[in-house]
Amino acid sequence: MAARFIPATSDPIAPETPEVIAITVDGAEVHGFLGQTLAGMLLATDTLAWRRTSFGDRPRGAFCGIGVCFDCLVVVNGQRDVRACQRRAASGDCVVSHRDQPILLDRDESGGAR
Ligand code: FES
Repeated sequence: MAARFIPATSDPIAPETPEVIAITVDGAEVHGFLGQTLAGMLLATDTLAWRRTSFGDRPRGAFCGIGVCFDCLVVVNGQRDVRACQRRAASGDCVVSHRDQPILLDRDESGGAR
């Protein structure tokens, strides 16, 4: 099944005059529309990854898009662990790429986890 793309100008449920908002993402200004999620705004700028994993330093972005996988975490206005696919953008939001906190394992002398 092919994806269906509806141009914004012919989207029957789009507001007639969407309100343009601006946020900053890692210091760069990004424009979007009121009602978009942060993930939607990031994807609209062709940004596919905005988080790095603690294991393997792998890039992550939106995966499920419905708030289940937590791959899309960002820091918003200083608050960590915000799911970009669930948080609607507000004008002036300061979004910073997320880097997982290292997980420190309590190891015994043989190197095994306790
Ligand atoms: S993309 Fe899966 S929780 Fe946001």
